[in-house]
Amino acid sequence: MNVPAIEGGAPLRSTYLPFSPPDITESEIKSVVEVLKSGWITRGKKCEEFEHLLAAYTGAAHAVVLSSATAGLFLSLRIFGIGEDDEVITTPYTFAATANVILHVGARPVFVDIDADTFLISTDQIKRKLSKKTRAIIPVHFAGHPADMDEISRIADLHDLLVIEDAAHAIGAVYSGKRIGNGEHTAVFSFHAVKNLTTAEGGAVMTGDARIAHQLRLFSLHGQTKDAYEKLRAGSWKYDIALPGYKFNMTDIQAALGIEQLRRIEENRRRRETIAQTYSTFFGEYACAKVPEVKKGVTHAWHLFPLRIDFSRLRIDRDRFIAALAAENISANVHFIPVHLMSFYRKIFDFQPEDFPASYSAFLQEVSLPIYPTLTQGDVQNVCEACARLLHYYKK
Ligand SMILES: Cc1ncc(COP(=O)(O)O)c(C=O)c1O
Repeated sequence: MNVPAIEGGAPLRSTYLPFSPPDITESEIKSVVEVLKSGWITRGKKCEEFEHLLAAYTGAAHAVVLSSATAGLFLSLRIFGIGEDDEVITTPYTFAATANVILHVGARPVFVDIDADTFLISTDQIKRKLSKKTRAIIPVHFAGHPADMDEISRIADLHDLLVIEDAAHAIGAVYSGKRIGNGEHTAVFSFHAVKNLTTAEGGAVMTGDARIAHQLRLFSLHGQTKDAYEKLRAGSWKYDIALPGYKFNMTDIQAALGIEQLRRIEENRRRRETIAQTYSTFFGEYACAKVPEVKKGVTHAWHLFPLRIDFSRLRIDRDRFIAALAAENISANVHFIPVHLMSFYRKIFDFQPEDFPASYSAFLQEVSLPIYPTLTQGDVQNVCEACARLLHYYKK
């Protein structure tokens, strides 16, 4: 029997395989250094260029780059006037940012469960949770797989609701022949350090509406009628504060990195897809494993590879499985600890784990495997072999 390292066997790898290290090329470093030497480092020409390139890539009329996706989600809710006494429907199967921003504007998050097979917000459950107070829906394109936007748009049109897509994972994803972030709805990308495109920290709101783009820019820089770059022009020092905005802008240093990363987004997505196919073929052979589904007509961005394992068939649980992988020198992760299990949300909404049974069950089974363009075929094989070692050894 091939004894796992956690039980005293030799680790499968001699070096640790990280979960999601940043992939920064020399030309990206050069671009950032050029900005650092240019005499202008905060929001300026590079942010504008990045916005134009993002809009051209997705097909949206406007992109507004910001300090994070959280800032983008928050500002979108704020600009559309969502606040006290309003309800916003979203999924608990997400990172807390999606729900926190609803609380930040004073509204109430109304969670609806996911579809058991897809990890994506259930449109049937959305219909059941609509109330007179519902103002918006925030679907999450979990792992980079688009949510059921046709049905979500239909529900939103019927009930006059706003849709803000949490597209934090989904740059490069395609739904019904159109890229996510094409401007049909407000959609928000994240460029956080582990995302498919990174600016270290950062995000962008994509919109088809020029007024919304204008408001986003105003709100992101204290409501100033001129940004710092415009004020710098000779004789152009005067400005007004049109509204009490926030400080959520991106910098040109980040945008320089983003511009270069965007050039590689398609190539990187294809590499992620190849890795996903390798994993899917490999784990497809195991009765205790369930590989992520890809719906027809969808291009997956493969930000994550959320494998599910039926631990009732093994002698260990998910947490021990991840510890055993770590002992083999292979990292794994869990996406997500559903928001309704977080102590703050449990306290204020009195949630029980079983209130959202599909989310809870997915959480107990989920193991995110490493997936990123710089993984070699050998690395991917190591991940498969390490998992196989555990699945065989601990089989009931
Ligand atoms: C689904 C989801 N939404 C929103 C966010 C927030 O993104 P950011 O860190 O850019 O604010 C994240 C970040 O991990 C996320 O995973």
